[in-house]
Amino acid sequence: MILITGATGQFGKLTIDFLLQKGVQPSEILALVRTEAAGNSFQERGIGIRVADYNDKDSLLRAFQGVTKLLFVSSSDLANRLQQHKNVVEAAAEIGVGHVVYTSFQRKNNSETSPLWQVAESHLATENWIKASGLNYTILKNNLYLDFVPGFIGEKVLETGVIYVPAGTGKLSAVLRSDMA
Ligand SMILES: NC(=O)c1ccc[n+]([C@@H]2O[C@H](COP(=O)([O-])OP(=O)(O)OC[C@H]3O[C@@H](n4cnc5c(N)ncnc54)[C@H](OP(=O)(O)O)[C@@H]3O)[C@@H](O)[C@H]2O)c1
Repeated sequence: MILITGATGQFGKLTIDFLLQKGVQPSEILALVRTEAAGNSFQERGIGIRVADYNDKDSLLRAFQGVTKLLFVSSSDLANRLQQHKNVVEAAAEIGVGHVVYTSFQRKNNSETSPLWQVAESHLATENWIKASGLNYTILKNNLYLDFVPGFIGEKVLETGVIYVPAGTGKLSAVLRSDMA
């Protein structure tokens, strides 16, 4: 069984759609959702659900029963995700899921001097926990979502002619979220 966390989110939803397009049977897929109600749209398509929260390790232990492949989509809750990710990795290791695929990120700088440290810290810790867990793993070095670039450029770019990020000769290697999914 393949379990997708963050299944109600954009990356998780797209991944489930691509698995189905590739011929994976809905009965082989499980969607991790936070409430039963959020699982209705999956169940209507024959996809099973597991209800759990990254904040609640016991719920994760129940959700991971019988899972052979886990797509662990990083939490969107930056304030709490260090502990949340620890819960996920510990639960996956305790249950012994066959293989964990984690959505980490592409970077040049692994140190606290990184301007992205707020985002990077929990990704790096999670990578290390996964590597030390004894689980089989794949760490995806996802690029910045190209879908985010309009937000950096701003709505007034045609009027101002100014792009603030990336600045100067800075470069950006962005990829569509759907391509990474
Ligand atoms: N590479 C990039 O440029 C980039 C940019 C932004 C984010 N990201 C990362 O990629 C991840 C996926 O992106 P996305 O666009 O799919 O995000 P999204 O649409 O905001 O989806 C986040 C998913 O995480 C779930 N979630 C949040 N808190 C949770 C918790 N405590 N327990 C269990 N599930 C929880 C949400 O569930 P609910 O529906 O219940 O809220 C939702 O399914 C993000 O979470 C972030 O770590 C990457």
